Amino acid sequence: MQFLTGKEISGAVVAAAELRLADAIGDEPVPVEELATKVGADPDALFRLMRALTTLGLFRASGERSFAHTELSAGLRSDAPERLLDMILLEGAEWGWKLSSRLAEPVRTGKPLFPEIYGKDLFSYFMEDEPEAGQVFDRAMTAISESAVGPIVDALDVTGVRKVVDVGGGQGSVVRAILQRNPGLSGVVFDIEPALGDAHAELRDGELSSRTELIAGDCRESVPVTADLYLFRHVLHMWDDEGAARILRNVAASAAPGARVVAIEQLVTEGPDGQYVALLDLHMLAVGGGRARSELDFARLFEKAGLRLTRVTPTSAGDQLVEAEVVDGR
Ligand SMILES: C[S@@+](CC[C@H](N)C(=O)[O-])C[C@H]1O[C@@H](n2cnc3c(N)ncnc32)[C@H](O)[C@@H]1O
Repeated sequence: MQFLTGKEISGAVVAAAELRLADAIGDEPVPVEELATKVGADPDALFRLMRALTTLGLFRASGERSFAHTELSAGLRSDAPERLLDMILLEGAEWGWKLSSRLAEPVRTGKPLFPEIYGKDLFSYFMEDEPEAGQVFDRAMTAISESAVGPIVDALDVTGVRKVVDVGGGQGSVVRAILQRNPGLSGVVFDIEPALGDAHAELRDGELSSRTELIAGDCRESVPVTADLYLFRHVLHMWDDEGAARILRNVAASAAPGARVVAIEQLVTEGPDGQYVALLDLHMLAVGGGRARSELDFARLFEKAGLRLTRVTPTSAGDQLVEAEVVDGR
């Protein structure tokens, strides 16, 4: 039964985020009637939502009809360093719910479900139909990378590197952190146009702008940047092996001799520790026919694209750096 109430749990947490409940409660407990006025909700229905949330450890009852923060619920504030709010709002996106509720279909066909429902791929949908949903996605991705970026830069070897490209680099958190730590490096964030529109101000016209290029393009067509290090953070898992190999071949065609490619992803592992990635893998299948990969899967993928896996380095934030060298470059 606990498995089956997963969607009600997600629904309650998403509702808390959409109503910005965490911002409406300060250091003192707030009576539910006052809370309802602040967030624009029905007092009785809000009381029932708060009661459900308290069972999850989000907020706590104080007296009969007042609620206060717990450490967990404080993390839902819009200014909380964890930036969970953006991630929860993404979880609440209608397209994601639809995919989860129809998972049997891509499992039957082995094909992505998103284009079946929306008639186009996710990023075209963001660009052409729902730019706001695209912004929610980009902000959530940045929130996730901000927490992982320190450990990535700690683990990433940039010895001898002069130029780094982050393919599908979104708002540029990883490039920003690399450039901050390595004053001799220049960086490129390569992504589709709308994602670059929200790139970090520091990269766009701030302190790091003289060492940064923001290049818009479609990595499935080409990655027209010559560099000695190419990063793909949470990007290759969006495509099946054929699609991912095509992108890697595009990189090899532009890369400087001896260039390195580093895929930054959580790897598929056996057993209960692999739960998160195993579930993410199904989401990737449903969204775009992509997949999460094991180390062996990456070795085969790289080989298919004319690269050779050279090492795998763990980071302290769950991501692994799966590194390859370009064998058949230009
Ligand atoms: C899952 S997000 C990861 C973003 C970022 N690397 C991070 O770790 O936060 C995937 C990124 O790939 C970008 N993307 C999607 N399709 C692309 C394409 N055809 N060419 C280049 N970038 C693309 C998206 O805009 C998005 O920024």
